[in-house]
Amino acid sequence: MSALPLDETGDVLIKPLSAHIGAEIHGVDLTHPLTPSQVSAIRAALLKWRVVFFREQFLSHEQHVAFSAQFGELTVGHPVFGHVDGHPEVYSIAKHRKATRFEGEPIRRPWSGWHTDVTAAVNPPFASILRGVTIPPYGGDTQWTNLVIAYQKLSAPLRGFIDGLRGVHRFTPPPGAAATSEFVDAVQRRSLVSEHPLVRVHPETGERALYVSPTFLKHVVSLTARESQALLELLWEHVTRPDFTVRFKWEPGSLAFWDNRSTAHLAPTDIFDLDFDRQLYRTTLVGDVPVGPDGRASVSIEGSPVEAAAAFALN
Ligand code: SIN
Repeated sequence: MSALPLDETGDVLIKPLSAHIGAEIHGVDLTHPLTPSQVSAIRAALLKWRVVFFREQFLSHEQHVAFSAQFGELTVGHPVFGHVDGHPEVYSIAKHRKATRFEGEPIRRPWSGWHTDVTAAVNPPFASILRGVTIPPYGGDTQWTNLVIAYQKLSAPLRGFIDGLRGVHRFTPPPGAAATSEFVDAVQRRSLVSEHPLVRVHPETGERALYVSPTFLKHVVSLTARESQALLELLWEHVTRPDFTVRFKWEPGSLAFWDNRSTAHLAPTDIFDLDFDRQLYRTTLVGDVPVGPDGRASVSIEGSPVEAAAAFALN
């Protein structure tokens, strides 16, 4: 038995949480600027483990933004659903978010709610950084899945078939539910629809990821409606296989940092059966335009690329 890779750099401690995804990082104080070696160790861990977690980091909005800025350019809080007043880079993930709630009872499928952030944009954020502030004493866990291992675990003939396919991503309510007027207003104000490859080549590692964000991917281009639905359901069921996932139990001061190019995640719904409040805040980093194994880049069908928060502030 080999020992856990607890100390890969002599600087930060990395503790993996499952075979394929998720690691806790210890030994760093995120309220202060990181050293270059801490930045590279965290970046390496992010690429390897897809989502990394920190504990007991009680950051202000300003410190959250400053931490995020060490890894890339920040986007606006959310291109469609806005940002915290006075903090253009910070998006509030409150338990009751009016604009993202729906009416009626959605049809619940095993992949319901799983998504990769903002894939309706032609340049979805490369990473998301979520900070827990008000956390229920139990319930409210978030789950992530590794889309690279999901791709690798498909059979070679199926990988060959999907390698050249593309799909259309947009914001719509889940099947069975209806949009609220707040949702419709927000989505019409900033309409975003994009065509992405079903298989995305990771721009840093060259790995292929099964880029099939279940919430936003609506159909596969060139297939019939029935073919598209059957294929997507097969792929969505596959990407949410428990052995590709990690589940994180939040505490106040916890922070999750994920690679949005190689993961999808699931926000909790059990919190709506509990009386406890839950409040987190998220920043996202500007991403590039995905490219498929055939070298074809994603294209925008509606809307402009997600802009950096600095550019947004100038408008
Ligand atoms: C998100 O989808 O970014 C939020 C996840 C969560 O609320 O746990």
